[in-house]
Amino acid sequence: MPVLSLGYLRLVVTESATPGLAAVGFEVLDRTDLRHLVERIEAAGIPTHAGTAAECALRQVTGFVAFDDPSGNRVELFYGPVLSHRPVDLPSVSGFVTGDQGMGHVILNVTDTEVAYDFYTGVLGFAERNSLELPGGTSYFLGCNPRQHTLGLNPAEGPGLLHFMVETAEIDDVGKALDRAHDLGIPMMQSLGKHTNDRMLSFYIYSPEGHATEIGWGGERIAAPTPTYRLTEGAVWGHRYTPPPAGAKGLPR
Ligand SMILES: [Fe+2]
Repeated sequence: MPVLSLGYLRLVVTESATPGLAAVGFEVLDRTDLRHLVERIEAAGIPTHAGTAAECALRQVTGFVAFDDPSGNRVELFYGPVLSHRPVDLPSVSGFVTGDQGMGHVILNVTDTEVAYDFYTGVLGFAERNSLELPGGTSYFLGCNPRQHTLGLNPAEGPGLLHFMVETAEIDDVGKALDRAHDLGIPMMQSLGKHTNDRMLSFYIYSPEGHATEIGWGGERIAAPTPTYRLTEGAVWGHRYTPPPAGAKGLPR
Protein backbone atom coordinates (compact mmCIF):
# COMPACT_ATOMS: atom_id res chain seq x y z
CA MET A 1 0.00 0.00 0.00
CA PRO A 2 1.47 3.40 -0.90
CA VAL A 3 2.57 5.59 1.95
CA LEU A 4 1.00 9.00 2.34
CA SER A 5 1.83 11.73 4.77
CA LEU A 6 0.77 15.34 4.98
CA GLY A 7 4.27 16.57 4.30
CA TYR A 8 6.69 18.96 5.91
CA LEU A 9 5.43 22.12 7.59
CA ARG A 10 4.87 24.21 4.50
CA LEU A 11 2.05 26.64 4.11
CA VAL A 12 1.93 28.61 0.88
CA VAL A 13 -0.21 31.75 0.94
CA THR A 14 -1.00 33.26 -2.45
CA GLU A 15 -3.06 36.24 -3.57
CA SER A 16 -6.39 35.33 -5.10
CA ALA A 17 -9.59 37.06 -6.17
CA THR A 18 -11.57 34.62 -4.01
CA PRO A 19 -10.40 33.07 -0.74
CA GLY A 20 -10.10 29.32 -0.65
CA LEU A 21 -7.92 26.26 -0.78
CA ALA A 22 -5.66 26.07 -3.86
CA ALA A 23 -4.48 22.52 -3.10
CA VAL A 24 -3.55 20.21 -0.25
CA GLY A 25 -0.30 18.23 -0.60
CA PHE A 26 0.46 14.76 0.66
CA GLU A 27 3.92 13.27 0.59
CA VAL A 28 4.63 9.77 -0.81
CA LEU A 29 7.80 7.73 -0.49
CA ASP A 30 9.34 8.10 -3.92
CA ARG A 31 8.65 8.12 -7.66
CA THR A 32 7.70 4.44 -7.69
CA ASP A 33 5.14 5.00 -4.95
CA LEU A 34 3.78 7.98 -6.89
CA ARG A 35 3.53 5.97 -10.11
CA HIS A 36 1.56 3.22 -8.36
CA LEU A 37 -0.82 5.80 -6.90
CA VAL A 38 -1.34 7.49 -10.27
CA GLU A 39 -2.30 4.11 -11.75
CA ARG A 40 -4.89 3.63 -9.02
CA ILE A 41 -6.28 7.17 -9.30
CA GLU A 42 -6.64 6.95 -13.08
CA ALA A 43 -8.15 3.47 -12.79
CA ALA A 44 -10.81 5.14 -10.62
CA GLY A 45 -11.60 7.44 -13.56
CA ILE A 46 -9.85 10.55 -12.25
CA PRO A 47 -7.41 12.28 -14.62
CA THR A 48 -4.08 13.45 -13.18
CA HIS A 49 -1.66 16.21 -14.15
CA ALA A 50 2.08 15.61 -13.79
CA GLY A 51 3.85 18.64 -12.34
CA THR A 52 6.18 20.47 -14.71
CA ALA A 53 9.73 21.41 -13.77
CA ALA A 54 8.59 24.98 -13.08
CA GLU A 55 5.70 23.80 -10.90
CA CYS A 56 8.05 21.49 -8.99
CA ALA A 57 10.50 24.34 -8.45
CA LEU A 58 7.70 26.55 -7.09
CA ARG A 59 6.76 23.86 -4.58
CA GLN A 60 10.36 22.84 -3.83
CA VAL A 61 9.65 19.18 -4.56
CA THR A 62 11.28 16.66 -6.89
CA GLY A 63 8.03 15.50 -8.46
CA PHE A 64 4.25 15.66 -7.98
CA VAL A 65 0.91 14.96 -9.61
CA ALA A 66 -2.27 16.98 -9.17
CA PHE A 67 -5.91 15.93 -9.48
CA ASP A 68 -9.34 16.75 -8.09
CA ASP A 69 -10.93 14.47 -5.51
CA PRO A 70 -14.55 13.36 -6.17
CA SER A 71 -15.87 16.55 -4.51
CA GLY A 72 -13.57 18.88 -6.47
CA ASN A 73 -10.89 19.51 -3.84
CA ARG A 74 -7.48 19.90 -5.49
CA VAL A 75 -4.98 17.34 -4.19
CA GLU A 76 -1.27 17.09 -4.95
CA LEU A 77 0.86 14.03 -4.21
CA PHE A 78 4.58 14.76 -4.12
CA TYR A 79 7.89 13.08 -3.36
CA GLY A 80 11.38 14.35 -2.69
CA PRO A 81 10.90 17.65 -0.82
CA VAL A 82 13.87 19.96 -1.36
CA LEU A 83 15.21 20.61 2.13
CA SER A 84 16.74 23.64 3.74
CA HIS A 85 19.25 22.75 6.46
CA ARG A 86 19.14 26.01 8.36
CA PRO A 87 17.21 25.98 11.65
CA VAL A 88 13.93 27.86 11.49
CA ASP A 89 13.78 30.96 13.65
CA LEU A 90 10.41 30.94 15.43
CA PRO A 91 10.31 33.94 17.75
CA SER A 92 6.86 33.27 19.22
CA VAL A 93 6.62 29.44 19.15
CA SER A 94 9.02 26.96 20.77
CA GLY A 95 8.45 24.53 17.90
CA PHE A 96 5.92 22.54 15.89
CA VAL A 97 5.24 18.81 16.08
CA THR A 98 5.94 17.57 12.55
CA GLY A 99 8.44 14.88 11.47
CA ASP A 100 6.75 11.50 11.08
CA GLN A 101 3.38 13.12 11.88
CA GLY A 102 3.50 15.56 8.99
CA MET A 103 2.60 19.25 9.31
CA GLY A 104 -0.73 18.76 11.10
CA HIS A 105 -4.17 18.03 9.70
CA VAL A 106 -6.69 19.40 7.26
CA ILE A 107 -10.46 19.03 7.30
CA LEU A 108 -11.94 19.13 3.81
CA ASN A 109 -15.52 19.87 2.88
CA VAL A 110 -16.89 17.08 0.71
CA THR A 111 -20.23 16.78 -1.05
CA ASP A 112 -20.67 13.04 -0.37
CA THR A 113 -18.80 11.69 2.63
CA GLU A 114 -19.28 8.04 1.60
CA VAL A 115 -17.84 8.64 -1.89
CA ALA A 116 -14.99 10.66 -0.38
CA TYR A 117 -14.37 7.94 2.21
CA ASP A 118 -14.15 5.28 -0.49
CA PHE A 119 -11.72 7.40 -2.52
CA TYR A 120 -9.35 8.38 0.28
CA THR A 121 -9.30 4.94 1.90
CA GLY A 122 -9.75 2.63 -1.09
CA VAL A 123 -7.70 4.49 -3.70
CA LEU A 124 -5.18 6.57 -1.74
CA GLY A 125 -4.77 4.18 1.20
CA PHE A 126 -5.76 6.28 4.21
CA ALA A 127 -6.93 4.38 7.31
CA GLU A 128 -10.19 5.20 9.08
CA ARG A 129 -9.43 6.31 12.62
CA ASN A 130 -12.93 7.30 13.76
CA SER A 131 -16.17 8.88 12.68
CA LEU A 132 -18.26 11.58 14.36
CA GLU A 133 -22.03 11.69 14.20
CA LEU A 134 -23.39 15.23 14.15
CA PRO A 135 -26.83 16.65 13.28
CA GLY A 136 -25.52 17.69 9.84
CA GLY A 137 -24.19 14.24 8.96
CA THR A 138 -21.24 11.95 9.54
CA SER A 139 -17.65 13.19 9.53
CA TYR A 140 -14.77 10.77 8.97
CA PHE A 141 -11.27 11.16 10.40
CA LEU A 142 -8.53 9.40 8.45
CA GLY A 143 -4.86 8.79 9.14
CA CYS A 144 -1.71 7.98 7.20
CA ASN A 145 0.95 8.31 9.90
CA PRO A 146 1.07 8.21 13.76
CA ARG A 147 -1.03 11.40 14.00
CA GLN A 148 -4.56 10.43 15.04
CA HIS A 149 -5.97 12.09 11.95
CA THR A 150 -4.30 13.84 9.04
CA LEU A 151 -7.46 14.29 6.97
CA GLY A 152 -11.04 14.91 8.01
CA LEU A 153 -14.03 14.65 5.68
CA ASN A 154 -16.80 17.10 6.54
CA PRO A 155 -20.24 16.88 4.89
CA ALA A 156 -20.91 20.12 3.02
CA GLU A 157 -22.63 21.50 -0.06
CA GLY A 158 -19.37 22.24 -1.89
CA PRO A 159 -15.63 21.57 -1.72
CA GLY A 160 -13.25 23.65 0.36
CA LEU A 161 -11.12 23.81 3.46
CA LEU A 162 -13.01 23.75 6.78
CA HIS A 163 -9.81 24.28 8.76
CA PHE A 164 -6.20 23.23 9.10
CA MET A 165 -4.38 22.47 12.35
CA VAL A 166 -0.80 22.91 13.48
CA GLU A 167 0.46 21.34 16.72
CA THR A 168 2.92 23.18 18.93
CA ALA A 169 5.71 21.62 20.96
CA GLU A 170 4.73 23.08 24.34
CA ILE A 171 1.40 23.79 26.03
CA ASP A 172 2.60 27.34 26.71
CA ASP A 173 2.78 27.93 22.94
CA VAL A 174 -1.00 27.48 22.77
CA GLY A 175 -1.54 29.81 25.74
CA LYS A 176 0.71 32.49 24.25
CA ALA A 177 -1.03 32.17 20.87
CA LEU A 178 -4.35 32.57 22.66
CA ASP A 179 -3.02 35.75 24.31
CA ARG A 180 -1.87 37.12 20.95
CA ALA A 181 -5.25 36.35 19.38
CA HIS A 182 -7.03 38.23 22.19
CA ASP A 183 -4.57 41.14 22.04
CA LEU A 184 -4.98 41.47 18.27
CA GLY A 185 -8.77 41.14 18.38
CA ILE A 186 -8.80 38.04 16.16
CA PRO A 187 -12.24 36.42 16.25
CA MET A 188 -12.54 33.00 17.87
CA MET A 189 -14.24 30.18 15.99
CA GLN A 190 -14.00 27.69 18.86
CA SER A 191 -12.86 28.42 22.39
CA LEU A 192 -10.09 26.48 24.10
CA GLY A 193 -11.10 22.85 24.44
CA LYS A 194 -10.05 19.23 24.20
CA HIS A 195 -11.06 16.90 21.41
CA THR A 196 -12.50 13.46 22.02
CA ASN A 197 -10.56 11.77 19.20
CA ASP A 198 -6.99 13.10 19.08
CA ARG A 199 -7.12 14.45 22.68
CA MET A 200 -5.74 17.74 21.32
CA LEU A 201 -5.91 20.82 23.54
CA SER A 202 -6.68 23.54 21.02
CA PHE A 203 -8.58 26.61 19.94
CA TYR A 204 -9.73 27.88 16.53
CA ILE A 205 -9.53 31.38 15.09
CA TYR A 206 -10.89 33.04 11.96
CA SER A 207 -8.60 34.59 9.38
CA PRO A 208 -9.64 38.01 8.00
CA GLU A 209 -11.41 36.16 5.17
CA GLY A 210 -13.23 33.78 7.48
CA HIS A 211 -11.06 30.68 7.21
CA ALA A 212 -10.40 28.73 10.37
CA THR A 213 -7.06 27.71 11.84
CA GLU A 214 -6.71 25.35 14.79
CA ILE A 215 -3.70 25.70 17.08
CA GLY A 216 -3.17 22.74 19.37
CA TRP A 217 -0.90 20.82 21.69
CA GLY A 218 -0.69 17.33 23.11
CA GLY A 219 -2.21 15.31 20.28
CA GLU A 220 -2.21 11.58 20.77
CA ARG A 221 0.18 9.39 18.76
CA ILE A 222 -1.47 6.17 17.83
CA ALA A 223 -0.23 2.79 16.67
CA ALA A 224 -1.67 1.46 13.43
CA PRO A 225 -3.75 -0.50 12.79
CA THR A 226 -6.16 0.62 15.50
CA PRO A 227 -9.86 -0.33 15.54
CA THR A 228 -12.16 2.51 14.53
CA TYR A 229 -14.98 3.95 16.64
CA ARG A 230 -17.87 6.43 16.31
CA LEU A 231 -18.05 9.54 18.48
CA THR A 232 -21.15 11.45 19.50
CA GLU A 233 -19.35 14.55 20.80
CA GLY A 234 -16.40 16.43 19.29
CA ALA A 235 -15.03 17.76 22.56
CA VAL A 236 -14.45 16.49 26.10
CA TRP A 237 -14.79 20.11 27.21
CA GLY A 238 -14.66 23.57 25.63
CA HIS A 239 -14.57 24.24 21.86
CA ARG A 240 -17.65 26.46 22.14
CA TYR A 241 -18.53 27.64 18.64
CA THR A 242 -18.92 31.22 17.43
CA PRO A 243 -20.20 31.93 13.86
CA PRO A 244 -17.90 33.78 11.44
CA PRO A 245 -17.95 37.57 11.75
CA ALA A 246 -20.10 39.55 9.33
CA GLY A 247 -18.36 40.17 6.03
CA ALA A 248 -16.18 37.08 6.14
CA LYS A 249 -15.95 35.58 2.67
CA GLY A 250 -14.86 32.06 3.60
CA LEU A 251 -17.21 29.20 4.24
CA PRO A 252 -16.30 27.61 7.59
CA ARG A 253 -19.02 25.84 9.47
FE1 LIG B 1 -9.01 19.94 13.73
